[in-house]
Amino acid sequence: MIQLSNLTKTFTAPGGEPLTVLDDVNLTLAAGSSLAVQGPSGSGKSTLLAILAGLERPSSGRIWVTGRRLDTLGERELSAFRARTLGFVFQAYHLLPHFSALQNVAIGAEIAGLPAPLARSREALERVGLGERMAHLPGQLSGGECQRVAIARAVVARPPVLLCDEPTGSLDPRNADRVFDLIMDLHGDLGTTLVLVTHDPRLADRMENRILLDRGRMVRPQVAPQAGR
Ligand SMILES: Nc1ncnc2c1ncn2[C@@H]1O[C@H](COP(=O)(O)OP(=O)(O)OP(=O)(O)O)[C@@H](O)[C@H]1O
Ligand SMILES: [Mg+2]
Repeated sequence: MIQLSNLTKTFTAPGGEPLTVLDDVNLTLAAGSSLAVQGPSGSGKSTLLAILAGLERPSSGRIWVTGRRLDTLGERELSAFRARTLGFVFQAYHLLPHFSALQNVAIGAEIAGLPAPLARSREALERVGLGERMAHLPGQLSGGECQRVAIARAVVARPPVLLCDEPTGSLDPRNADRVFDLIMDLHGDLGTTLVLVTHDPRLADRMENRILLDRGRMVRPQVAPQAGR
């Protein structure tokens, strides 16, 4: 289960003034369910995902992911928690440039302490259609191929929670469908809790729950949007 309670995140803008990017977000998501996070550019979607992943600290509020309270965990506990519990597909793929596609994926399986990390990683890359590109470095892959490597890396350890930031943003329709199907298979077969940031209403419609962020405030689609609150 994921729960956010009175979550606020304030950055310091370059001029030194405070910039509130998430403002009193409250959310409860049952284990095994799915959530679409939508909203215009700059509304706080990636920041929300980074906080759920324990990569960013909230300014105030409480966060629970699979029963663990994240906002009070230390750095070492947070990274152990991430390795065990989370798959994360970043908006910018964050692949290691000097490692091959296969090595990039295998790192995820190794950190999670899984047996046969290379065999699992080959299988994950085949599932995203990259069986022929395993030895390529990220610089030798197209943008969409890098995105698919990032997805293979996030799912290789079959994490109970998968956080995806625009996972199909740079893919053609055929590969976007393939990647989305892979994510939905994990969600369906393994009961992976799924949080998906997307601008694609077609994908958002396939999630069981949806929230809309408007300048850091959460607007539920079933409630009339109150712009400018
Ligand atoms: N480290 C930071 N310091 C200051 N401001 C930041 C920082 N990180 C993000 N912001 C600001 O916070 C706001 C929300 O950023 P975020 O990346 O969460 O948006 P987003 O909804 O994911 O947008 P997009 O759809 O363009 O990816 C933006 O206006 C951004 O400029
Ligand atoms: Mg973003």
